[in-house]
Amino acid sequence: MPLLFKKIKDLRNYLKSIRCDKKEIGFVPTMGYLHEGHRALIRMARNQNDVVVVSIFVNPTQFGEGEDYDRYPRDLERDLAICEEEGVDVVFAPEVSEIYPRGYRTKVCVGELGKRLEGEFRPGHFDGVATVVVKLFNIVQPHRAYFGEKDYQQLKIIEQVVEDLNIPVEIVPVPIVREKDGLACSSRNVYLSPEERESALSLYKSFLLAEKMIKAGERDAERIKEAIKTFIQKHPHVKGIDYVEITDENLNPKKTVEKGDRILLAVRVGNTRLIDNWKVEI
Ligand code: PAF
Repeated sequence: MPLLFKKIKDLRNYLKSIRCDKKEIGFVPTMGYLHEGHRALIRMARNQNDVVVVSIFVNPTQFGEGEDYDRYPRDLERDLAICEEEGVDVVFAPEVSEIYPRGYRTKVCVGELGKRLEGEFRPGHFDGVATVVVKLFNIVQPHRAYFGEKDYQQLKIIEQVVEDLNIPVEIVPVPIVREKDGLACSSRNVYLSPEERESALSLYKSFLLAEKMIKAGERDAERIKEAIKTFIQKHPHVKGIDYVEITDENLNPKKTVEKGDRILLAVRVGNTRLIDNWKVEI
């Protein structure tokens, strides 16, 4: 079983001895309800470090009003069992009062990049993410931290934060893990009914459609985005498309598609909001 810490002071004491022994710490921040995507992050951390720390904390400051903070799936026992299977050394699972004892007073503002795409539909979301991640970095002081490309904008924002604030941690991106049928792994997939899940596959299928268009010579971003939207909208449980965007690897919008660009989208299926993205490989 991994060692479980709930208090910052206890975790810090333990990690101090790890650092004294010159051991390298790999850190995987999560909100729990672990799935194959998290397992991939943990395995990468396990391969590259002496000690692996996983945090499990559903961070209230990154949820907006009316979002799913209260119903977000939580199961610490199950998460601990998965961490044990993956050889995690330390789990940090603090209460909200441990992380925000004086509320949300000082925060990290990520600026322009946090206002586009997801940020347009979830105002303040990335400030909440950046704030908690910086707090966790200060608590764990890892050598490396692992972030999934499934949350591509989050990954880019964390890279920016670490650079802007001179935080001495290496950010390691980990490719998206998909279920057998193509649905990107996400803790929120449990919200989907079987019928909604079928409609949710349209996200992945729309990427295959885009890839086919690009392989056939289409390079116009607008036409590809329109084709994606038309395809997804045809599916019965799709309640709306928040955005479909094509950007370069740094999230700058593109008019003409090239190898290495990203197609990013957010779609509401039933009551569940799903995000996904795809790297263009021509
Ligand atoms: O990706 C997540 O699960 C969360 O946004 C993170 C990075 C753990 C911060 O709460």
